[in-house]
Amino acid sequence: MHHLLVALFAAAVQGAALAKPEQIRSDQDPVFHLYLQAYPKNTSMVVLGPAATSEYFNIAGSIQSTNTSSYLNIGSDSTSYKTLTFDKTATTTGWGLEGDTIITTQTSSYGRQLNFLACQLDGQYWQVYFQTGSSTPSGKTCSNYQSLHLPCLC
Ligand SMILES: *[C@@H]1O[C@H](CO)[C@@H](O)[C@H](O)[C@H]1NC(C)=O
Ligand SMILES: *[C@@H]1O[C@H](CO)[C@@H](O)[C@H](O)[C@H]1NC(C)=O
Repeated sequence: MHHLLVALFAAAVQGAALAKPEQIRSDQDPVFHLYLQAYPKNTSMVVLGPAATSEYFNIAGSIQSTNTSSYLNIGSDSTSYKTLTFDKTATTTGWGLEGDTIITTQTSSYGRQLNFLACQLDGQYWQVYFQTGSSTPSGKTCSNYQSLHLPCLC
């Protein structure tokens, strides 16, 4: 009986995490608790920025902003880091969650990946790239191997 209740509770917690629009944020310096959103100066650019302007997302294969209806897509850059963009249609459908962590799933064309690169733009805004290796752009202040998380499984 106890185990059944624990299992039901775990299922409810997981279901709730996937069911409602979620904020997505980083958990490590220098971008600790900055939130995923469009860059005000170029709304197709994906940045980590202030909590006050955080967007909310539905995460279900695609990642869609409930604020702008735009989808989070991975570019086809030849570098190990790939430009992320917000677009009207979802071209990336391999997003998933592993606990509170944003990943590309094992069955996606990228395999299971969870690393991102953040490069400083101005103020509290950092452009985010999907990172499949280790290279970084020269001449920019960047932080490699960042991961993106839901604020909590609640
Ligand atoms: C806006 O950002 C996107 C994604 O980084 C980029 O491809 C595009 O060239 C930018 N547009 C302008 C006008 O800078
Ligand atoms: C995005 O939508 C959420 C939920 O409706 C709202 O609380 C938040 O202020 C919105 N963010 C922006 C930047 O408008």
